[in-house]
Amino acid sequence: MRILTGLQPSGKLHIGNYFGAMEPAILLQSQGDAYYFIANYHAMTSLHDGPALRANTHELAIDFLACGLDPAKAVFFRQSDVPEVNELAWILSTVCPMSLLEKCHSYKDKVAKGIASNHALFAYPVLMAADILLYDSNLVPVGKDQKQHLEVTRDLAVKINEALGETVLTIPDVLIKEESAIVPGLDGQKMSKSYNNTIPLFGEEKPLRKTFMKIISDSTAVEDPKPTENSTILALFKLFASEFEYQAMVESFQSGGLGYGHFKQQLWEAYWNYFAPMRQRREEILADPGYVNEVLTQGAEKARATASNVLDRIRKATGLSC
Ligand code: ADP
Ligand code: TRP
Repeated sequence: MRILTGLQPSGKLHIGNYFGAMEPAILLQSQGDAYYFIANYHAMTSLHDGPALRANTHELAIDFLACGLDPAKAVFFRQSDVPEVNELAWILSTVCPMSLLEKCHSYKDKVAKGIASNHALFAYPVLMAADILLYDSNLVPVGKDQKQHLEVTRDLAVKINEALGETVLTIPDVLIKEESAIVPGLDGQKMSKSYNNTIPLFGEEKPLRKTFMKIISDSTAVEDPKPTENSTILALFKLFASEFEYQAMVESFQSGGLGYGHFKQQLWEAYWNYFAPMRQRREEILADPGYVNEVLTQGAEKARATASNVLDRIRKATGLSC
């Protein structure tokens, strides 16, 4: 079974990215033939700054490796190291109705937010379909927000197979962890770069601790019981604490006598301890400057070998090659 997913290098990673995308991918890497990549072509739909894109790509690679992506188990590569993906995107676009892309929420949301519409933003799901189909992927773990893009992928694969009258492309299944809650941000909304409410995955201790103290809480007095429903502090604590510790915090909320500052401090300590092994691994990676490029170069070689086999098959079936 081939498992594939991509992450955009579009800025500093936050704990929403970790629990929503990275941890599930890391847990799956031993379950099959894993292909994980850095979607730098996709990031170009919003970033046109060479040094920044290069730095973000490098940082994402370091952070993913620090969190446990194991290059002995998963092929880890940069999307742009396999430029063949653009050829497949073109082939797919020849069977892609405009109306299919016009329906995509992600495109409509971005345009509604004031992001300038351009062809790449519109065609984003076609390139994503190519990412998936180029590697004969069977299973694609993604966040809920990517569900529609997976439907587009399956649609396009079926259309190509129908048009060519044979099974040229493998139809992938999507894996969405329905039970994985959306990680809330400092303001209680979904944690997201675009809402400026994130808790970074890595950073300096002092400013990070300050970030936790900024979590918005209500004005319940110290001595009074605190509401446990919709509590951002509790929702975040659940990610880091054992069931026992979590229940103990729920009880302290209910019994009153402790202020939110106390709970934020407890949350901060749980977060800091939770990521301690990843921080240590990150330091080790940083101390070995050649390591990341070595991993990505080897990953690119393997990914390219798989991709060129699949593309050969597609080129033959379409009549592009003899
Ligand atoms: P952002 O919203 O910060 O721009 P992205 O859209 O780049 O984040 O998300 C990358 C991955 O991280 C996606 O798979 C997405 O589902 C996951 N993700 C992002 N934010 C959260 C969150 N708050 N909770 C759970 N998963 C998230
Ligand atoms: N669109 C995905 C995101 O923003 C990233 C991505 C690009 C991806 N290509 C992919 C995810 C292929 C899974 C498979 O999160």
